[in-house]
Amino acid sequence: MAAALPWRLLPDSATEADGRLSLAGCDLEGLASEFGTPLVVYDEDHLRARCREALAAFGEGVSYASKAFLCRAMAHLVAEEGLGLDVSTGGELHAALEADFPPERLVVHGNNKSLREIGEALAAGAGRIVVDSFDEMARLEALAAGRGVRPRVLIRVTPGVEVHTHHYVATGGEDSKFGFTVRSGAAAEAVDRARTSDVLDLLGVHAHIGSQVFSLDSFAEAVGVLARFAAPLGLEELSVGGGLGVAYVEGERAAGIPEWATAVREAAEAAGLTARITAEPGRAIAAAAAVILYEVGTVKEIPGVRTYVAVDGGMSDNPRPVLYGSGYEAFLPRAVRAERPLSARVVGKHCESGDVLVSEGWLPSDVAVEDVLAMPVAGAYGYSMASNYNKVPRPAVLFVHDGAARLVIRRETYADLTRLDV
Ligand code: LLP
Repeated sequence: MAAALPWRLLPDSATEADGRLSLAGCDLEGLASEFGTPLVVYDEDHLRARCREALAAFGEGVSYASKAFLCRAMAHLVAEEGLGLDVSTGGELHAALEADFPPERLVVHGNNKSLREIGEALAAGAGRIVVDSFDEMARLEALAAGRGVRPRVLIRVTPGVEVHTHHYVATGGEDSKFGFTVRSGAAAEAVDRARTSDVLDLLGVHAHIGSQVFSLDSFAEAVGVLARFAAPLGLEELSVGGGLGVAYVEGERAAGIPEWATAVREAAEAAGLTARITAEPGRAIAAAAAVILYEVGTVKEIPGVRTYVAVDGGMSDNPRPVLYGSGYEAFLPRAVRAERPLSARVVGKHCESGDVLVSEGWLPSDVAVEDVLAMPVAGAYGYSMASNYNKVPRPAVLFVHDGAARLVIRRETYADLTRLDV
């Protein structure tokens, strides 16, 4: 039996009255009946507060990793808050530019940037291109020389540290498709080539050791390696990427952005690095800002086995449980403070048994068909990794602020599902 939902998993502006949950003064069940379900509801002030924390902690140059969640409204918000934007594909770059994001604040990533994508980044005048391989460096130099431009670059380095996270999202070890390894000497060679290049303006080095990393010691260890590597080179900038873990379930504790920045800065100073330290958090800004709302369609009790609560979404709007075994909490917004004695598996509407949202969840025992069921910490890598599996339309997304909700991504329609068919 689990207690009531831990309040700290909810967005900053969460309040309760008569047991009912509101975000920024908007009643969640009311939003579900007005906009339908599944529905992703972002607390805009929460997003802005995390952006401000990142800016205060790292200073100018810190970016938001758009892969966590990007739409026009999010790009506007990030621009207004003064952060940069990390884009890792031509598509993310396009979305950023279409939202008039200031190009000089863009950081362009990707382990396999196509010629087209490199060309698009140059044409946009992106502030930084993070070079991931020798092949890319050659292509970038050729394209930049041809256009008479001098892109500012960072070298993506793999520090060779193993971190405690799912191996699908660990990126800092030797055995990685990303970047140049320090240990093999490739990183030193890449820095050398960029520095002596006529067309590249080398600013510094970049590393991203993985995502959903809780241990600040892992970051400190990686920064130590990077700082010892970078200090003698006299480079201007060291980006530590993103990766700060967030709490999804009861019992998990995560450091905040300020503590993360302090740990990183101390490790860099201890290794004698004077470069500007910057970062690009995604999850730590977006994850806890949103709650996703579903409607319960069936409640099936199998005596002696378990209870299945099926909702009107699933692995198409949140593939994280299936992909990484990620845990979530579930609760009822009509009774947010209620005890949750019912052990239940929250599943979706897709045609496979793997379609699980909460494997071992807890709910109030009176959960019933047509209830709105919510999952907190739904703001990162849910919508951005959503698919149309089983031709299920993707959810609508709202930003709520000061008692008002605005639709920032409309719900997909059946017509959207066939619009690419020729
Ligand atoms: N910078 C780089 C170069 C990255 O590759 C990433 C994430 C970030 C920054 C942002 O990391 P964050 O602060 O959000 O952890 N789909 C997975 C997460 C994959 C992260 C990939 N790279 C998930 O749902 O957990």
